[in-house]
Amino acid sequence: MAMATTPKVAQPGAVDGGASPGFGLYVHWPFCLAKCPYCDFNSHVEAEVEDPRWARALVRAIDRYADEIGPRRLDSIFFGGGTPSLMAPATVAAVIERATTRFAPAPDLEITLEANPTSTEAARLEDVRAAGINRVSLGVQALDDDALRFLGREHTAAEALAALALAARLFARFSFDLIYARPDQTPAAWAAELERALGHADGHLSAYQLTIEPGTRFDLLARTGALRMPDDEVQADLYEATQERLAAAGLTAYEISNHARPGEACRHNLIYWRSGEWLGIGPGAHGRLERDGERIATEAWRLPKVWLARAEQGGTGERTRAVLGRLERVEELLVMGLRLGEGVDIARLQAVARRALAQILDPTALERLEADDLLELRAGRLAATAAGRQRLNALLAALLR
Ligand SMILES: C[S@@+](CC[C@H](N)C(=O)[O-])C[C@H]1O[C@@H](n2cnc3c(N)ncnc32)[C@H](O)[C@@H]1O
Ligand code: SF4
Repeated sequence: MAMATTPKVAQPGAVDGGASPGFGLYVHWPFCLAKCPYCDFNSHVEAEVEDPRWARALVRAIDRYADEIGPRRLDSIFFGGGTPSLMAPATVAAVIERATTRFAPAPDLEITLEANPTSTEAARLEDVRAAGINRVSLGVQALDDDALRFLGREHTAAEALAALALAARLFARFSFDLIYARPDQTPAAWAAELERALGHADGHLSAYQLTIEPGTRFDLLARTGALRMPDDEVQADLYEATQERLAAAGLTAYEISNHARPGEACRHNLIYWRSGEWLGIGPGAHGRLERDGERIATEAWRLPKVWLARAEQGGTGERTRAVLGRLERVEELLVMGLRLGEGVDIARLQAVARRALAQILDPTALERLEADDLLELRAGRLAATAAGRQRLNALLAALLR
């Protein structure tokens, strides 16, 4: 998500084995209790959601895709949103049941659900575990009630801590999200909050810098001057301090904002960043499929009622599909892969491009970025250094010119 600079800890070599990028299923649940002022995800506030209709439509979308692509080994299922912790556990169970019937579940199939830590939603964690979820990612965001109010959240810090304790009891693997670099947040206040958070962390933690997304309420406030973000230098300091503290606690940054102990990286997100394959179902979901050497990008209808109607008419809810050209595939490999400490496999890059590296990327730009300690070529991989990952947009612009 956000970018800034960072200490020099490059991490060549793939995390968690890095063998095949894998195959996953992403399920987008587009409903939320309220719209957070910073969020531009495809989320909608609806008074009433007909869960059984949604369950039938999601299951049907899985069937349609399974008919199309045939048997596959399934490495991951991810319920994202929106707020999937608002789903009826029976809907979650129906999706898992159909996905693991139509596809062969990997022995270590990861099934994640994003959950908001209000007490009502936390109360459902036991039921979603019974439905088959084996990993949760809690949207804690902050451990300070004023900050939570500012972020428009529906939960308190005490509720977040209670949800974390419950997640630790119920799930062998859990993660939580924090948002930092908030207006007026001092480095000392963030350090104290992060320290507190570490006391409740397990194998995975995501720490995002607050970003102002176009069209959000925060965007409007920032434009009128009512919301002032910390300046770039403060943001960079906060980022560096975060990376250092989490690394010292054993939670290495395997991606710009994602930290994990060895073996605990989110397998589903690794499928995206390693340009693997996944089905995307639910409103606005994206997918990537490979067939006959071609890579296909799919995108579903964004509006919940439109997606539902399309899926009920017997489809997948897909709005567009496009075969990616070679250049687009190379760009995607780099844009996604350079977010990771492990970087990109050069042999794969060359195979996709059907060219040698020197013909894919400008050798002078490569040399300069290496000399500036932003990029490194090692052990058959091209990786951004920690400093490079912090300025990934600029680095990519220089590479892909
Ligand atoms: C789809 S959202 C959240 C899922 C869940 N509904 C929740 O709110 O906890 C995934 C994560 O992205 C992060 N996020 C979303 N918008 C952001 C922004 N503008 N700046 C920083 N982090 C953001 C939040 O940490 C959030 O938990
Ligand atoms: S941050 Fe989560 S709860 Fe808030 S609007 Fe976005 S998806 Fe919904």
